[in-house]
Amino acid sequence: MLGLIYFIFITSIVAVLVGLWQKNTNVLCKSKKNLEGKTAIVTGGTSGMGLRIATDFASRGAKVIVACPFIDEGTNGRKHIIERTGNEKVIFKLLDLSSITSIRKFSSEILQTEERLDILVNNAGVGIGFDYLTKDGMNFIMQVNYFGSFLLTILLLPLLLKTGKPGEPARIVNTSSVLHNIGVVDFTNINRLNYWYGIQCYGNSKLCLVLFAHELTKRLNNKNVVINCVDPGAVGTPIFNCVGWFLGGIITYFFKNFFKTPWEGAQTAIHVALDKKAGEVSGQFFKNCKLSRAKQAGYDDKIAVQLWEESIRLVKMDQDEVYQCLQPLS
Ligand SMILES: NC(=O)c1ccc[n+]([C@@H]2O[C@H](COP(=O)([O-])OP(=O)(O)OC[C@H]3O[C@@H](n4cnc5c(N)ncnc54)[C@H](OP(=O)(O)O)[C@@H]3O)[C@@H](O)[C@H]2O)c1
Repeated sequence: MLGLIYFIFITSIVAVLVGLWQKNTNVLCKSKKNLEGKTAIVTGGTSGMGLRIATDFASRGAKVIVACPFIDEGTNGRKHIIERTGNEKVIFKLLDLSSITSIRKFSSEILQTEERLDILVNNAGVGIGFDYLTKDGMNFIMQVNYFGSFLLTILLLPLLLKTGKPGEPARIVNTSSVLHNIGVVDFTNINRLNYWYGIQCYGNSKLCLVLFAHELTKRLNNKNVVINCVDPGAVGTPIFNCVGWFLGGIITYFFKNFFKTPWEGAQTAIHVALDKKAGEVSGQFFKNCKLSRAKQAGYDDKIAVQLWEESIRLVKMDQDEVYQCLQPLS
């Protein structure tokens, strides 16, 4: 018991020091890019960092589609963005990344209604404390954080491919995390319940996002769509509230007081979505508005291909459909 208290104490001190250091060295996106005439989708664009990313895009004149699984939160998020920016071209659409049906409905509506898609930010994510299977048979954390974003991205690719032009690629931004460093890809147990610590499962999902960016970059083969990952740092958002009021309260207290604000945490994703130089690379990992590097396993060609194949199978796509999705919408 004393050992556990000692461990929690040391971990908390380290987390606070790292958080304070990150907060004080946080870099802001300097891009002045105007987004008039452009369209962006931000998943989870109704809370935390996603809300700040969507607000930034709207303030630059973009049409912004924010997506989350709850009507109230989505409606409030949309209202908040319009009030802050005066931009009325903000749309809320329901999207539940833990449901293949919902992802398919969302993307098919987007393909029907939108003429273009310049930016897709795969920001939505869940923290720990969800050890159950979705209706689609996947571990909830894995499906929301990785498999759902994987399917959504592939289904939206035809529109991204249609929009991207030489010198001005369409951009996909995956929100990963420093916790990808503890992630592993264990195909046998990837969706297994009562097997992973929540934090480990979260790390696994964030490593998968890095491998996905690596593999999709190869498959796109310079087709004017780029995909990069970001690590926002430790940010004070409600993401870890879900672990019960006591632990959740402690974590939230630390996050709010010692870590980056959601606006500060949003900066790297905004940078990667807008900065000219960031648009010239793909399959890369950014931190603090700078090109960085994920852990070496995130660039493993063999695992990336295997993960791609396994993801296609789990999200119930077939090779013909995948092939069609890699062609621009006419
Ligand atoms: N906070 C950090 O320190 C930190 C660090 C590294 C990476 N990240 C990543 O940053 C991203 C944003 O998180 P945040 O910290 O800003 O937390 P947040 O405020 O909780 O935002 C998460 C967003 O994801 C949405 N979401 C949750 N489940 C969803 C589902 N099934 N389908 C669609 N959307 C869903 C949420 O919508 P509802 O609220 O309506 O459920 C919410 O808008 C996440 O990917 C997270 O893993 C966070």
